[in-house]
Amino acid sequence: MFKRFHRQILLGVTGGVAAYKVAELTRLLVKARIGVQVAMTEAACGFVTPATFQALSGRAVLTDLWDPRIPNRMAHIELSRQADAILIAPASADFIAKIAQGTADDLLSTTVAARNCPLLVAPAMNREMWSNPANQRNIQKLEADGVVLLGPDAGEQACGEVGRGRMVEPQHLLEAILALYPAPRLTGRKVVVTAGPTFEAIDPVRGITNSSSGKMGYAVAEAARDEGAEVVLVSGPTALPPPSGCTVLPVRSAADMLAAVQSVLPGTDLFFAVAAVADYTPAEPAAHKLKKSSDVLTLTLKPTVDILATVAGMPDAPFCVGFAAESQDLAAYAESKRRNKKVPLIVGNLAQRALGSDDNEIILFDAEGAHPLPPAPKIVLARQLLDHTIRLARS
Ligand code: CTP
Repeated sequence: MFKRFHRQILLGVTGGVAAYKVAELTRLLVKARIGVQVAMTEAACGFVTPATFQALSGRAVLTDLWDPRIPNRMAHIELSRQADAILIAPASADFIAKIAQGTADDLLSTTVAARNCPLLVAPAMNREMWSNPANQRNIQKLEADGVVLLGPDAGEQACGEVGRGRMVEPQHLLEAILALYPAPRLTGRKVVVTAGPTFEAIDPVRGITNSSSGKMGYAVAEAARDEGAEVVLVSGPTALPPPSGCTVLPVRSAADMLAAVQSVLPGTDLFFAVAAVADYTPAEPAAHKLKKSSDVLTLTLKPTVDILATVAGMPDAPFCVGFAAESQDLAAYAESKRRNKKVPLIVGNLAQRALGSDDNEIILFDAEGAHPLPPAPKIVLARQLLDHTIRLARS
């Protein structure tokens, strides 16, 4: 449900004319790279249809506590656990009363009651409903419970009256959501990442490659993108979809990868060499398909250029991070690669653990020593690696 974006909001829409403005808010959130899961009350569906929110958020809208699409059928738990925050917009007087009372009688109110993340509420109602003492008591309860109230604004109302009760404009709601997140740390920075295997041609149809899936490199690219960097991902052949918001340069051989990296290197601040680059390539690839014979076939291989060492050795080199996939003696090999390639940081992992898997277990080796990270999905490790790299690069 909540996979594509790093930042995730659960947007709860309740019954009110301002629901149409929340369609615009959904668009703004998605544009700001925040994943939006919309949940609507029955009353909200009387104002705007779920189809509108589904089209804008790119996700099925949830309205039913018993929705069979939720994997373990605990929609209210699932929804709040996967969100960084819940925003109720527009929040009707009735829904505010439910939150104040802890009433849990539909999907949205149950989710709010079961939340473990911040709750933001953007009320929208007639000015008399807003100032009604019962509503004001409820508002005080919400504030006492730590709910963040956004508005309402004063002005002309849908009913024709003028006063306080207008929902805060979508742009301001977006700003309130953005304020929840730490400022991106790589805005204005350029990050180049190599990923995946390379493919060294033996003849037009055969070649030497390896079983790297590219997942770790793609995760590093996504983590850098989410920190606001301009990201160029130089990728060997993989089956992965190109990560949005990154420039992807597809390459095949180690030589292609080197050329692509060199072409994009000017202005690069951080270079992550995550690719499993072939160390050898056929010295003379055949122009035509090799034909079978009963003779022993000997391939002559010549070494490829080490891309990481080349980049790290350049004058004005970016801050370089290498990877070491080892099948044994991880610490010793990783540390010797760090010194030989003259890079400040090497990420060590066991090849048999890492290759193809969605999870990994890595150790960061820098001048200070070894920093093991607990096993986690590759995207989580990529974010931790970026934290460590940013700290080192700044020091
Ligand atoms: N690397 C590179 N260009 C190459 C070979 C490796 O940029 N031609 C980079 C990898 O992307 C990785 C690091 O160097 O960041 C270490 O790669 P690895 O294959 O683990 O080590 P090698 O230096 O190739 O040594 P070995 O294969 O002997 O372990």
